[in-house]
Amino acid sequence: MNRIQFVGLTSKIQHTTDMRKILIVLALVCGAVCTQAQPRPTNLIPTPVEYSVRSGSVRHDDLARLREKVRISEKALLRRLGDRRLTDWQLRSAYWLELGKKRVKIVAADEEGVFYARQTLRMMASLDSSLTCCTILDWPRFRYRGVMLDESRHFQGKQFVLKQLEMMALLKMNRFHFHLVDNPGWRVQIDAYPRLTAATAWRPEAYFWDWEKNEIGGLFVEEGTPGAYGGYYTHQDIADILSFAAERHIEVIPEIEMPGHNYETRAAYPELACSLPDGGKDPWELCPGKETTFRFLENVLLEVFDIFPSQYIHIGGDEARKNNWKLCPDCQARMKAEGLESVEELQSYMISRIERFAHQHGKRIIGWDEILQGGLAPDATVMSWHGVEAGVQAVSEGHDVILTPTHYCYLDYRQEPDQYHAAGRLLPLEKVYSFEPIGEGISEADAHHVLGLQGNLWTEHVQHAWHAEMMLYPRVFAIAETGWSQAVSKDWSDFERRASVLSAVAREWGYTVYPPSPSLLQ
Ligand code: ACM
Ligand code: ZN
Repeated sequence: MNRIQFVGLTSKIQHTTDMRKILIVLALVCGAVCTQAQPRPTNLIPTPVEYSVRSGSVRHDDLARLREKVRISEKALLRRLGDRRLTDWQLRSAYWLELGKKRVKIVAADEEGVFYARQTLRMMASLDSSLTCCTILDWPRFRYRGVMLDESRHFQGKQFVLKQLEMMALLKMNRFHFHLVDNPGWRVQIDAYPRLTAATAWRPEAYFWDWEKNEIGGLFVEEGTPGAYGGYYTHQDIADILSFAAERHIEVIPEIEMPGHNYETRAAYPELACSLPDGGKDPWELCPGKETTFRFLENVLLEVFDIFPSQYIHIGGDEARKNNWKLCPDCQARMKAEGLESVEELQSYMISRIERFAHQHGKRIIGWDEILQGGLAPDATVMSWHGVEAGVQAVSEGHDVILTPTHYCYLDYRQEPDQYHAAGRLLPLEKVYSFEPIGEGISEADAHHVLGLQGNLWTEHVQHAWHAEMMLYPRVFAIAETGWSQAVSKDWSDFERRASVLSAVAREWGYTVYPPSPSLLQ
């Protein structure tokens, strides 16, 4: 039996100054900001599946004296679950937690369950000055509870990512989708193609819309150019992020976008464009007619597979215009040779070929929902973003899906009509919270194909770290609860109250939560 280490729950973040600050504030806040003693720990986000009160409470000052007993045993957990039936993956994340006056007992089938039990304790300790003794039995509803960050339009860098992973862990989220490459900048070191970062991770204008005015896209400048804006993740940066994430049971899924959104790739390696004057009139696609393109993608992916241990690789697939492919002799020759009747089928050929390559290396692919056009690659997981319809279609074809519909999950949308620098549509917290992933068109029998949901932060409008955070929070709290908690326990007015408690604490920890302090917007 160990002494419980509440500070230890966050000790792994100590190696950065920002993180150290959060830690210190966390300790202070636990005593100071907390609300009055709650009759039940209903401040928790996500709300647990089952919770019952025991007699007594533990004062915050006494937490460090609690003894912790952890038992990792599937049999012991199953005994506590009784006739509740969980899938294998749910069992690995499930935990039973008993908070008594003198000790904490945790039973789980796996380290992952122990981790989530500790996150529950950590959140209770952060939000309440006096913790009601209780018993909790808890497990996730969905296996994929994600956040996507676009690092291409604007680049935040490692410290920012670590800080957000820390919040994701507290919220029991487990997938970080790293949108690393796109038209305005390539953001990951690739040794086989050094010009990707030397030539196209840097640009003259910092703000995306100023850069984009140059006509999609703008210009890039060489690494080291005085005043240039940009940056990228080195292999060491990625290794640091991956180990930080792994300690928190978060899988990092890199996105290497193809065939569209590749203006920067073509700027670095013009031979990857279609064989048309200046590469054609839509300068943001790769040419799937050329073997050179596949050699390039495979070499890049080999390095990415080496760096990222995730089972999945996201290959993009969205918004390819394909106009050049109709004119390009290489694309036309490829279509003829492969018996492809449309450019949609040409895209499908490309994605399926990449999927075969991924399989050869033990990986599976995820793509945006446009990969349905022209025929879905046999084992692809679809990220449904236009709405949920593509997800419903993919499920009906036996594919797994992750739901990120714009009208519930696009965190670049504004939270109020006149919000500072945000994309056009309105997406307040309540709307995000109202999302039900197993909606019309998905039968009970097919529901297991819905892996879960994800909040997407595109950053065309979002230059600064504080701005990115206020787009994320508190809306990510809602994504987390939809991903973890049972549909029947969701309750908007109670969630709104809990979100405001957590928002206050998150601000004390140094996160910018919407609405931000007015001075930030000046
Ligand atoms: C997307 O929003 N283009 C996936
Ligand atoms: Zn071509």
